[in-house]
Amino acid sequence: MTNQQSASPQPQPVTVIGLGPMGVALAGTLLERGHPTTVWNRTPERANGLVAQGAHRAGTVAEAVSASPVTIMCLKDYETMHTVSDSAGDAWKGRVLVNLNSGTPKEAHTAVSWAADRGVDYLDGAIMVPPALVGHPDSIFLYSGAQAVFDEHRTTLASMGGPRYLGPDPGLAVLYNAALLDMMYATMNGFLHAVALVGSANVSAVTFADLALNWFMPSVVDSSLTAQVPNLDSSNYPGDMGTLEMNLNALEHITRTCEEQGIHSDQPRLMKEIAAQAIAEGYSGKNYLAVFEVFKKATQAP
Ligand SMILES: NC(=O)c1ccc[n+]([C@@H]2O[C@H](COP(=O)([O-])OP(=O)(O)OC[C@H]3O[C@@H](n4cnc5c(N)ncnc54)[C@H](OP(=O)(O)O)[C@@H]3O)[C@@H](O)[C@H]2O)c1
Repeated sequence: MTNQQSASPQPQPVTVIGLGPMGVALAGTLLERGHPTTVWNRTPERANGLVAQGAHRAGTVAEAVSASPVTIMCLKDYETMHTVSDSAGDAWKGRVLVNLNSGTPKEAHTAVSWAADRGVDYLDGAIMVPPALVGHPDSIFLYSGAQAVFDEHRTTLASMGGPRYLGPDPGLAVLYNAALLDMMYATMNGFLHAVALVGSANVSAVTFADLALNWFMPSVVDSSLTAQVPNLDSSNYPGDMGTLEMNLNALEHITRTCEEQGIHSDQPRLMKEIAAQAIAEGYSGKNYLAVFEVFKKATQAP
């Protein structure tokens, strides 16, 4: 765990705990990159393929943690991480734990306290690629918390994918993860709902996607979003090219079209309600991005 070791040309021994689809991809990639790799999983058979590739299967969590200076945990959630980690007892002392499950910033902060109580160097992280892209040079792995731990083990972390350090607040990696996935799910739902809408007139997904996806980047992301992002930081929403009322009207048409066409209409109705709330809060003459002011506050009780 010294600077000398991390700078060594010999790949560092690593333990991977948690062999779901992601943990298997992490351990497999570490093996491919020459890291002596020890693995542990609640269901031991999931390690069979990795053992055939040269991984060492630990019999207990304590044995797994003791086998390497750095342990990567990739379990279902923080609760599982605590349950599994607690069984290793004193084996953790003086080791490094890089925890890559998703969760909430509060849970990440609790994990930091857990680690401090046991003398563990802790780094929190989040994986922003599917298992198939682990190890790919363009893959994004987010880290936050102890910068010294990140710096010392950056080479090992880079074996799994492109490491990005977000800052000393340990909750940042999972907060970014939630934010990026929030964007992903909303975008996917927008597309899927649009496909359902044209599908009500027997238009195929492939036919629609050819037009829609080529329209989306230049007309929505580039011209409406990218150019206006700085305005979000200054709460500046000039309505000279279109007002929130105009957008509310559009959302009303979309909702009614869904109803007429007999498809699910909750998603556009919710967007309509959010736009109406922004108008009620005084942003009527502003542009659509003023709904950001609604998003910044906790949901109001009905
Ligand atoms: N898969 C992806 O595309 C992807 C992408 C980015 C991030 N991630 C994140 O990576 C983490 C792991 O994801 P995953 O896809 O590998 O699968 P997962 O289903 O989220 O987690 C599976 C792992 O958790 C273990 N586990 C679950 N409950 C347990 C318990 N009570 N005690 C002990 N171990 C338990 C499983 O052990 P068993 O094998 O014994 O059931 C397995 O090792 C998640 O936090 C996920 O959000 C996943």
